Amino acid sequence: MSGPLLLAIESSCDETGIAIVDGGRRIVANVVASQVALHAPMGGIVPEVAARAHVRWIVPVLEAAWTDAGVDWRDIDGVAVTYGPGLAGSLLVGINFAKALAWSRGLPLVGVNHLEGHVYAAWLADPGADPAQPEFPLVALVVSGGHTFLVEMRDHLTYRLLGTTVDDAAGEAFDKVGRLLGLGYPGGPAVQRAAAHATRRDVAFPRAWLGDSYDMSFSGLKTAARRIVEGARAAEGLDADDPLAALSAATVAELAFGFQDAVVDVLVTKTIRAAVATGARSIVLGGGVAANAELRGRLAGQAADRGLPLIVPRPGLCTDNGAMIGAAGARRFAAGERAGLDLDARPSLRLAGR
Ligand code: KG4
Ligand code: ZN
Repeated sequence: MSGPLLLAIESSCDETGIAIVDGGRRIVANVVASQVALHAPMGGIVPEVAARAHVRWIVPVLEAAWTDAGVDWRDIDGVAVTYGPGLAGSLLVGINFAKALAWSRGLPLVGVNHLEGHVYAAWLADPGADPAQPEFPLVALVVSGGHTFLVEMRDHLTYRLLGTTVDDAAGEAFDKVGRLLGLGYPGGPAVQRAAAHATRRDVAFPRAWLGDSYDMSFSGLKTAARRIVEGARAAEGLDADDPLAALSAATVAELAFGFQDAVVDVLVTKTIRAAVATGARSIVLGGGVAANAELRGRLAGQAADRGLPLIVPRPGLCTDNGAMIGAAGARRFAAGERAGLDLDARPSLRLAGR
């Protein structure tokens, strides 16, 4: 696909991202200001704090993107912006900023579903790189902090829901278990780092298979993790009421490994089964949890065993960013979609339903 050159804005959660993307593929600039340090002391995202930080950072992030890009307004064909799902206040900052830019520059505006952005990150290419592109039909697994689902795509912009979590998202479970293990926020990267140090791998965490369905469930695993952590604390003679009494690093590593192993096992098994059953020609992996090395490695291995190409963006394009919004926005733009200045935030927007 050639053209359009889009300015793309992402502010649905706790990253302020602005990118310039050519033809839905080539990343010309991609700047992300993460608020992780702001929210970490609270142990999670505080919506009001997130919205204010977007207001504070959105202009500097745009200026940094322009500096990186070396293009100017005359080259830009349109503005793409995430309009859901996400935190209402955070979404509104990006939407209103995008509207102001589009209106003042006389450019068309296109609204993008954040989850479609996570899927379309698989089409992105860094400067000088030309990675393989996904082939249809494909199966896409999106695993983020708020969503976990499997869809089939037989063509661009068309989705059939194969399965979804019936309770918590995988990223949410990583964050909760990270907290239980005293690893801080966000839990995902911390659990991965701790698990890499595991020398004992004896504690088995339960998997909820939900029969033959492609649906997933992580709340039972979370409850089991709480019970296992409490048991380990008792075994190490720690005072249950003393939050400063910490588990040994070896135990934290072992439990982090066991938990991660259970999540990855379910995600990989269901994705491979879905790809085989639907006759997919490729598998796409996206969303923040797709930054997880164990998930990437095991899915790649099992896909390769079946001759299926796995397309997974580099970790920085799996977590929230503006480039993925430019990738999905370009497809919507090319399909003739335009948003008006009445574009509103849709905090509960979905990609596909039953
Ligand atoms: O897609 P994302 O950046 O934001 C949402 O749209 O939710 O995903 C954030 C989630 C968080 O739950 C975070 O803990 C998780 O992705 N995550 C990871 C890793 N990096 C980020 N989970 C497991 N392993 C990682 N390396
Ligand atoms: Zn996301």
